[in-house]
Amino acid sequence: MRSIIHAKESSMKPALMIAFPIPSPVIERAQQEFDVVHTDIEISTEQIIRIATEKQVRAIMVSMGQKITQSVLDQLPPSLKIIATSSVGYDHFDLKAAQNKGIQLTNTPDVLTDSTADFTLLLILSACRRAPEYTEIMNKGWGTRFGQDEMLGTEVTGKTLGILGMGRIGQAVAKRARGFGIKILYNSPRRLSPELELDATYFSDFKKMLPHCEILSLHAPARATTAQIMNTETFSLLPAQSIFINTARGSLVDEEALIQALRSKHLFAAGLDVFQNEPHFDTRFLEFPNVVLAPHMGSATLETRIAMGLRALENIRSSLSGQRPRDLLTS
Ligand code: DGY
Repeated sequence: MRSIIHAKESSMKPALMIAFPIPSPVIERAQQEFDVVHTDIEISTEQIIRIATEKQVRAIMVSMGQKITQSVLDQLPPSLKIIATSSVGYDHFDLKAAQNKGIQLTNTPDVLTDSTADFTLLLILSACRRAPEYTEIMNKGWGTRFGQDEMLGTEVTGKTLGILGMGRIGQAVAKRARGFGIKILYNSPRRLSPELELDATYFSDFKKMLPHCEILSLHAPARATTAQIMNTETFSLLPAQSIFINTARGSLVDEEALIQALRSKHLFAAGLDVFQNEPHFDTRFLEFPNVVLAPHMGSATLETRIAMGLRALENIRSSLSGQRPRDLLTS
């Protein structure tokens, strides 16, 4: 039978649980300084609580699919000092509850900026240039040459791209898009300094930016203020035949409204890496040949996943040695 839990005989090292699969260099590095229990699958929070209690762990590394609520925190052992997520997003954390219990929480910013921005460009290019439809034609054997007026995409070069959330990833997307001669508009809680803004145009009002976006890409975090920020009204403010891209979080989108915008052909295409209900996404998206779908893989390169794991380890090391972790989310 496949074993899901791996642990060595306990030692004097502090106990660390890695509660999801991660590339082996991270496990090997962790084993040099911690008594590591790790799992081959993303385990449930019930299993996290059980193993953490059995092993009296001092630290837990989780991924974005493992929701750390008040109730989970209440059941974790008092030995626990830190929970480090190997993700930049931390909407799966109850920060206030952890703060009240004195448990430190950390995330992994910076290290996944480039891979997520690269992936966003992949979705923009694929959506504009009909990549999924071409793949399907080739899979079916092609066979008839297309006329010069058939199966046409929309030009990427020279388009206007609106970015919601001009943080690290938004800026990295803008940097790449400039290489395609794309004009950048953005909306963010704060305007960037001139050195960072460069030639981008700032809109303090998101809705006022939308009518100018031939492509819209979301890079804002999941917060109460961004929940379903894309809805019937905001989709309708986009120009007809625009392209919608989401590599941020599914909670930013009212998926009924998105499906409606696709059905009515108001949108030319969409590229979606994130969904309201992951991993059980709304399979109605499969009806649309012009929608590029991915299973939340924006940061999924070997290099980045190792870097994320090592950054989470760095946070754990600092915490357990009494220093302030670099990416502390709780104060
Ligand atoms: C993140 O880090 O928040 C990504 O969505 C997961 O890779």
